[in-house]
Amino acid sequence: MAATPADFDALFFRSALGRFATGVTVVTTETTPDARPLGLTISSFNAVSLEPPMILWSLTKAASSLQHYLQARRYVVHVLASTQLHLAKRFAHGPQSERFRNVALARAPGGTLMLDDPECAAWFECYNLARHEAGDHIIFIGQVERCHRNFNQPLVYHAGDFDLTPSTEPLSST
Ligand SMILES: Cc1cc2nc3c(=O)[nH]c(=O)nc-3n(C[C@H](O)[C@H](O)[C@H](O)COP(=O)(O)O)c2cc1C
Repeated sequence: MAATPADFDALFFRSALGRFATGVTVVTTETTPDARPLGLTISSFNAVSLEPPMILWSLTKAASSLQHYLQARRYVVHVLASTQLHLAKRFAHGPQSERFRNVALARAPGGTLMLDDPECAAWFECYNLARHEAGDHIIFIGQVERCHRNFNQPLVYHAGDFDLTPSTEPLSST
């Protein structure tokens, strides 16, 4: 039996989804074949499988970089720390070349372009295992080949903003 039509509009749906607090990631890869850097701010990241290790994230079909992410062999998902709000904003808008201005880059062990920033709370170098069409988004399933983490506080996204992100000021001793 088919689903019944939604009894709410897109604005209300977005608002309801916004009650779910998430972390924030930046997903990097390169264009093919000319290897220009690409990066996107993505909060739809989630765990999928422990063995084998797999993660997912979803990308709007409207993203101008969509074709490159579909074709990429690998990408790196960086989990942002609370001190990296500037990166979350930088990688959500504007031309790709601007997003990487004054941003240090490195190579993950498997050769994938990544941010060279030790503040990232974690990163996952992923093989671009599968892509599934779902409404107006594409779900990417990544098989994790290498990962790294530290214990920095995460950047938190909720209700369309970063208000729940813990303060990065030193805690008072009183
Ligand atoms: C906190 C935050 C989370 C986001 N999460 C997603 C997401 O999960 N999926 C998505 O398609 N876009 C998400 N976006 C928007 C994308 O970053 C934006 O559409 C993308 O950078 C556009 O890139 P383009 O140059 O390929 O069009 C998010 C934006 C912000 C600020």
